[in-house]
Amino acid sequence: MRHLMSPLDFSVEELDTLLSLAQDIEAHPEKYAHACAGKKLATLFYEPSTRTRLSHEAAMLNLGGSIMGFSTADSSSATKGESVSDTIRTVSCYADICAMRHPKEGAPMVACEHSRIPVINAGDGGHQHPTQTLTDLLTIKNLKGRLDNMTIGLCGDLKFGRTVHSLIHALVRYSGIKFVLISPEELRLPDYMRLDVLDKKNVPYKEVVRLEDALPELDILYMTRVQKERFFNEEDYVRMKDFYILDRKKMKSAPQDMQVLHPLPRVNEIAVEVDEDPRAAYFKQVQYGVYVRMALILTLLDIHVD
Ligand code: CP
Repeated sequence: MRHLMSPLDFSVEELDTLLSLAQDIEAHPEKYAHACAGKKLATLFYEPSTRTRLSHEAAMLNLGGSIMGFSTADSSSATKGESVSDTIRTVSCYADICAMRHPKEGAPMVACEHSRIPVINAGDGGHQHPTQTLTDLLTIKNLKGRLDNMTIGLCGDLKFGRTVHSLIHALVRYSGIKFVLISPEELRLPDYMRLDVLDKKNVPYKEVVRLEDALPELDILYMTRVQKERFFNEEDYVRMKDFYILDRKKMKSAPQDMQVLHPLPRVNEIAVEVDEDPRAAYFKQVQYGVYVRMALILTLLDIHVD
């Protein structure tokens, strides 16, 4: 039985297979419409979500399966003090696979140690968000035709942004990747990512504060919001929240084939006027998230079509 805790749980070859499956699902959805008939997905969300929960549910429904779950800790027995390990033992009796989001780093890992069904980490604290990474990789592959030889700008909250950490882990395995880390001093990428991942693997990167300085050299701009829920005080959040705003004027200095990604939700960091720019890829990214989660569910359940 396989779980997905980190993007590194899949080798580069397995990732290629998974992304190819997602592309085939997009091209031939009818082939997969009953692939999970009789199977149930449980979504156990202890933290708010729109895309991750609903796209897992849409993925299972598109595959002909069924869904169950809770969308807040308040509506589960966690409020009565039930542990994650007891919850997953219980859910293993009801469902065939589950996706869990939890504010505590490592909670989905605890779940998979006590689970009889595959567990998907749907985001744990500021740690990892592997299904967002699968979505990001599929988006980059579909829009740029490759995952190697690219300069990627990561902009915003690089300290708390778990999507950024997961994406770096995944991309450093491809050749010719360079990063431009764009953040205010207070929200720099943590040492455990810079030293232990980028430096250790000799991946070229530079850190800049001004988005304008970075834009001309980027193939991908990955915008992120400031993670309000991870700040200890409101004052710091308010000071940081509008540090970056990508607007039409700034987009003029970006290459014509640069793509703008964002895991969403957006707050103010991308002006709505940018949505009309053909380089704005963040809503395509949402759609790709459904195909890649369909491919993930099939892979973890070991279901083969054809
Ligand atoms: N990208 C993402 O994780 O969005 P949600 O928080 O809405 O699931």
